[in-house]
Amino acid sequence: ELRLLRTAIDISIDGHYAMMRGARPGMKEYELEALIEYTFKRKGAEDVGYPSIVGSSYNACILHYTANRRATKMNDLVLADCGAEYHGYTADITRTFPLSGRFTKEQRLLYNVVLEAQDSGIAASVVGAPFRAPHRAAQTVIARRLMELGIIDTLEHVSRYFMHGTSHYLGLDVHDPGTGGPLRANSVITVEPGIYIPEGSPCDRRWWNIGIRIEDDILITSAGPVNLSERLVRTADEIEAIVGKAP
Ligand code: GLY
Ligand code: MN
Ligand code: MN
Repeated sequence: ELRLLRTAIDISIDGHYAMMRGARPGMKEYELEALIEYTFKRKGAEDVGYPSIVGSSYNACILHYTANRRATKMNDLVLADCGAEYHGYTADITRTFPLSGRFTKEQRLLYNVVLEAQDSGIAASVVGAPFRAPHRAAQTVIARRLMELGIIDTLEHVSRYFMHGTSHYLGLDVHDPGTGGPLRANSVITVEPGIYIPEGSPCDRRWWNIGIRIEDDILITSAGPVNLSERLVRTADEIEAIVGKAP
């Protein structure tokens, strides 16, 4: 099972690279979707594991947005949550990137919060930890950082901008069934914190229309968490270095 899942993940990583490298401002969301899904098929995936989510600007703030029809603009962030299905097994990977190839100051600040939250969630993905441990770790980081940035007034308000769980099991189904009990060796879970600030939110308008999620697929082992999607660049600098760089 792990061999097949790793193949689904490897194909998905190649697809995310093709999309980020081929991205240009002004492209329609469905053009970006086509770049990634073309690569999935070309690399032997039979299908997508779930409808691709390619949301730019305010669409990145809509969870499970799949219309993918908008024309992107220069300073947009694109949130791409796309996974290939291979021999029945599905990957589940999200990257968020600036179409221009440069994060704005606000985008980069929030991106680094999500990245820190994800690192913290991955570190908490250890054998024996409660299933919710990665979520609690990620949520704690986001709450504290949003307070520091003046985006929320109390820690409890974190759920206004981070309104979903951090982890689910992954395998034959993108949301695979599982016990929800303490984490066990050889389980695979996602770690996928996010921040979503739609227009009109009760914070400074400079944060509006920023939606960011970073999602990787984590194998639980007795030697600690293994990021199966680690080959896909994740830091802001690494992403800036590849977006739009296709010949
Ligand atoms: N792609 C669906 C999810 O991240 O849960
Ligand atoms: Mn997921
Ligand atoms: Mn996902």
